[in-house]
Amino acid sequence: MNNINTGNPSTGPGAASPHVLTPLPYAENAFEPVITAKTLGFHYGKHHKGYVDNLNKLIAGTEYAGLSLEKVITSTVGQPEQVAIFNNAAQNWNHTFYWKSLTPRGGGEPPAALKQRIEASFGSVEACKKELAGAAVSQFGSGWAWLVLEGDTLKVVKTANADVPMTMGFTPLLVIDVWEHAYYLDYQNRRPDYVNAVLDKLINWEFALQNVG
Ligand SMILES: [Fe+2]
Repeated sequence: MNNINTGNPSTGPGAASPHVLTPLPYAENAFEPVITAKTLGFHYGKHHKGYVDNLNKLIAGTEYAGLSLEKVITSTVGQPEQVAIFNNAAQNWNHTFYWKSLTPRGGGEPPAALKQRIEASFGSVEACKKELAGAAVSQFGSGWAWLVLEGDTLKVVKTANADVPMTMGFTPLLVIDVWEHAYYLDYQNRRPDYVNAVLDKLINWEFALQNVG
């Protein structure tokens, strides 16, 4: 699993709010006009923050308080009675990863080392982008489209709702959020337009390369 900075894992025994909302790595208007400040403001300040706040409320006083975010996710996945904790923990993780998957100077050509890996797995960068876009557009309802590593091979997978690829044996490299809250204010029902604009202008290939390790 990738060791991303998900905030202070604990502020001590009995702490009410061990998980913190990771700061955005850019300004809320940094993606205009592809993603407006209004969308980013709601997405980060209401939706992402909501998951963090809910998680802290749900785990207070439980065996999950004080665990790292990754540990909360792996301890609750697949357990129906812990689905609320899993959903809020995973959505916190997914959003932090999504913010890092985008950059105001994104899109374009991947760095050479990543491009080589992409070409080995998909044939070309265009084919990789096409498969990512296809996964993002075809995900029925809410979810995520991921570029992941499985062994030495790069592949595209999609997950529904809050589901994360790490518990399926994949190392995540990049993600695109396809929940409606990610694009509806800007694109309404035109998810393909949002996805293609993100891939062309914002996707952070450097971040993917860092995650390849
Ligand atoms: Fe989201």
